[in-house]
Amino acid sequence: MASNKQFFVTLAIVAIILPSTASATDYTVGDDSGWNNKFDYAAWAKDKQFYVGDTLSFMYTPGSHNVFKVNGTEFDQCIKPEPQLALATGNDVITLATPGKKWYMCGVAQHCAGGQKLFITVQDASSAANGIFASGYQIVMIATVAIGAMFAMA
Ligand SMILES: *[C@@H]1O[C@H](CO)[C@@H](O)[C@H](O)[C@H]1NC(C)=O
Repeated sequence: MASNKQFFVTLAIVAIILPSTASATDYTVGDDSGWNNKFDYAAWAKDKQFYVGDTLSFMYTPGSHNVFKVNGTEFDQCIKPEPQLALATGNDVITLATPGKKWYMCGVAQHCAGGQKLFITVQDASSAANGIFASGYQIVMIATVAIGAMFAMA
């Protein structure tokens, strides 16, 4: 009896912890088009939900483009930050570490003015759809485990 009970308690703990560890997404900005000055990044970002812990990969030929993380004013006016702040490897991976608005632009030539810029809003990992899904899942699992535990202890 005791071992059955331990089994269900273990299962309950796993069921509660599992959903919150399984959700980071890696986005390649522009998908197969990568990061360039002939793509609509607003359209690309439009239907996506970004969460803390997700990553953005900016893929391009080094030297042709670069990536600056900027603020809203710099984004709107295509103001380039100091050159040494540029990411320029051609495979720049950024982890979305905090919730809120994030702005990125290319600092090469006039690419930003031509539309090579990305604006996204990052949501807390426990918010919105993820949170609803996780809590719904947890309720089902807890109910299942509780019923199982009653049988185990009967
Ligand atoms: C954006 O950054 C620039 C330069 O670092 C700064 O002067 C400006 O006040 C910032 N704007 C906002 C809205 O934070």
